[in-house]
Parts: sequence; structure tokens; C-alpha cells
Amino acid sequence: MTRAIQIEKTGGPEELKLVDVKVGEPGPGEIRIRHKAVGLNFIDVYHRTGLYPLPLPAGIGGEGAGIVEAVGEGVTHLKPGDRAAYASNQPGSYAEARVMAAKHVCKLPDAIDFETGAAMMLKGLTAQYLLKRTPMGQLQPGDPILFHAAAGGVGLIACQWAKALGYVVIGTAGSEEKCALARAHGAAHMINYNTEDFAARVKEITGGKGVKVVYDSVGKDTWEKSLDCLRPLGLLACFGNSSGPVPPIAPGMLGPKGSLYITRQTLFTHIATRESCQQMADDLFEAVTSGKVKIRIDQRYPLEQVQQAHRDLEARRTTGSTILTL
Ligand SMILES: NC(=O)c1ccc[n+]([C@@H]2O[C@H](COP(=O)([O-])OP(=O)(O)OC[C@H]3O[C@@H](n4cnc5c(N)ncnc54)[C@H](OP(=O)(O)O)[C@@H]3O)[C@@H](O)[C@H]2O)c1
Repeated sequence: MTRAIQIEKTGGPEELKLVDVKVGEPGPGEIRIRHKAVGLNFIDVYHRTGLYPLPLPAGIGGEGAGIVEAVGEGVTHLKPGDRAAYASNQPGSYAEARVMAAKHVCKLPDAIDFETGAAMMLKGLTAQYLLKRTPMGQLQPGDPILFHAAAGGVGLIACQWAKALGYVVIGTAGSEEKCALARAHGAAHMINYNTEDFAARVKEITGGKGVKVVYDSVGKDTWEKSLDCLRPLGLLACFGNSSGPVPPIAPGMLGPKGSLYITRQTLFTHIATRESCQQMADDLFEAVTSGKVKIRIDQRYPLEQVQQAHRDLEARRTTGSTILTL
């Protein structure tokens, strides 16, 4: 038996219940991992509220780091005793131990501690695919990009990495403190979108041209104005709904705005195969071990206080990464 967080029905943070669950043996293609730390992500909120429906009762959480205890048939890249970390679309990381598909689990380099591993996999692999696999050749060093929620978990990693790639990061965040934090992590310009018109400011910063790519995880509150930040043929990369989902749109509106592109990306398409997942993880490990990207853990909560962790994340009280400790 092991302690884990489960929901029996969707709803508020109070639905996150600490329960004892049985952890079995790994089947073919699976491993059992004992977590040392667990990562918290906004997708966990969507699972809890039912925005992204799960069969119930359900475990929650898609990020963690720990030690591999057992491997099932056919798993060759891991063995018992390995230090490992993962981002997974199989919820259930809010637990002391779990059985899960091995293909998303990567060996953790010795230079990266467990808490950092748990804080960086889902968010860091997301920054990786957003910056390197999404713009499809559009971005050159020196180009400005707009990244919303730049002081958040994905945001702070993306600011540092984008700067290292030579892009000029224009970020948004909801307070002056958050703007200062993102600036200290590589953003060249920050806009407080609670007090300023971000589209007007982007135009001003870019001399009227706009940016080639906007990365938008805020959704409902920002997507429309995000289109007005783009130069002709620019790309709006939607990847989240922290303020609510983007409503259905009419493609015809993209023509007069400059033949724009819109994409809705998810990490799990990019890490669908073991090979792509490992390739992206190796790139992320290099970015972190070389010091290009520092992983900031600004909040730590014991597993039992997960309800408070969700309250703080939803109330925009967090910055950088958040982990659950065991
Ligand atoms: N599609 C994918 O592959 C993928 C993968 C990972 C994450 N994501 C998405 O990326 C985003 C960031 O994830 P994260 O885990 O790193 O979270 P986070 O950025 O640490 O937290 C979310 C941030 O969004 C901003 N926000 C704006 N409007 C909000 C609202 N109405 N309610 C709550 N927050 C609001 C807040 O920052 P300010 O106070 O500065 O506005 C808040 O701190 C989320 O939307 C998540 O779903 C997508």
C-alpha cells in the first residue's frame, strides 16, 4: 500500500483526498517508481475540475522524480535502482509510489537532484517543444517573441531558454514583482497585462512590426489580443487555458489580420514515442546541467497539503515551479 491523492468527483481543491492505494507489479512496458518529489502543473487543475475529463476515481499529477523499483517485460532503458524523472499523460504522480508506462520515464543525470527533476520535466519539455519544434523555422536569433505568463513554471524556463537561443523575449505577467522576476530570468521586456494594454505595448516595443510568434497559455482572456501582436504570417501558439478555454473561432478572421497561423499544441504529441521523449529530455538535461536554464522551485508543499498548493496555483500566487514533497 502507498499514500496517494485521488479525486472521486471533479470540483474544487477539497476534492483532492489522501488515500491508501495498492501499488502492484509493473506489466509489460511498465515500471514501478518510488517518488522522491512530485511536480505540480496547471494541467492538474484541469483534471481536477473536469475541463480535461478523466475516468473516476482518478489519480492526479503528471510529473515526478524518484528511484525505479521494478521494471516490466520489454523495458530495456531502465533498471531497478536507476534515478529517473518523467512527464506523463497518465495522471497519478501525486503518490509515494506508482506503476506507469516506461516510455515517458527518463534516467535522471547525476548532476540533477530529485526535486529539480520533479520541477522541470513537464514544464521544461514543454518549453523545449514550444521554442524548438513549434515555430517550424520561423524564428532567427534577434527575433522578438511574446510569451504570456512569463513568471510561471513554464514561463521562467522558456524565458531563459529563449534568451539563450538569441530571441528577444517580451513577456507578460500579472504583477510588478512577477515582471521583475521574469526580467531577472531573461525577459528583455515585461508587460503587466493587468494594468497595461499588452498589444499596444508589443507594437511599441517592436517599432510597429509585431512579433513572429506569440506563446499563449492564458487562453480566454488573451488569445484575441495576442493575434494583434503578430506581424503578417505570424504564428499564435496556443498551449493552455489558465483563464478558460479559447472559444471556437472562424478561420476567415485570420486573413485580414495578415494571413496568420494558429496552432494548439500539447506536449504529449511531441513525446509520443520513447525516442522523441528521450531526445527532448537530453536537450533539456543539457540546458539545465550547462547552466543555461536554472530551475526555480518557489513553492514546496508536503503531499498532505496539496489542496493548498492547488488554491495557490489557481489564485496566481505562485511563481516558477511548485513541488510536493514526500
Ligand atoms: N499544452 C501543453 O503542452 C502544456 C504543457 C504544460 C503547461 N501548459 C500550460 O501552460 C500554462 C502554464 O503552466 P504552469 O503549470 O507552468 O502554470 P503557471 O504558469 O505557473 O501558472 C499559471 C499562470 O497563469 C497566469 N494566469 C493568467 N490568467 C490566469 C487565471 N485566470 N487564473 C490562473 N492563472 C492565470 C498566472 O500568472 P500571472 O499572474 O502572471 O498572470 C499564473 O501564475 C498553463 O496554462 C498550462 O496548462 C500546457
